Amino acid sequence: MSDDTLRIAFTVDGVRHELEVPPLRRLLDVLREDLGLCGTKEGCGEGECGACSVLDDGEVVNSCLIPACQIDGHAITTIEGQGFGPIQDAFLREGAAQCGICTPGMIVATRAWLERCAADGVAPTPEATRAALAGNLCRCTGYASIVRAALLAARGGT
Ligand code: FES
Ligand code: FES
Repeated sequence: MSDDTLRIAFTVDGVRHELEVPPLRRLLDVLREDLGLCGTKEGCGEGECGACSVLDDGEVVNSCLIPACQIDGHAITTIEGQGFGPIQDAFLREGAAQCGICTPGMIVATRAWLERCAADGVAPTPEATRAALAGNLCRCTGYASIVRAALLAARGGT
């Protein structure tokens, strides 16, 4: 290991990885460039749009803001992991994806929101869902279809 790199071990979508990386390398670049997981998108690259959202030990984070040194020992979940099918189906059924750049991050954030609702034993309302997804920007849909998709997924697709 050289002075300016760090060896980290972590899991992505249940698969363990050990990498030697510059400590400040962005998690987004680790995923897309080092591991070839290009499902996670880059929008602004500055923490403003949510396109790069992933789950870090179950919490939604902007992977463009997370340095590699912070993920040692963590479990990262990306849009390429298991368990997104029902939400993806709901997005398709409601026409909640247009250009698609926001869609992976939006679906990751939706999963985290619906899991929080389920853990709290509450049904998500349209207003709360819109607020919960406010950190994920979409230039195409106007958000109504995204909220409908999230609520459809919360109902189990019915
Ligand atoms: S690309 Fe990370 S928040 Fe926009
Ligand atoms: S579908 Fe284009 S930005 Fe959301």
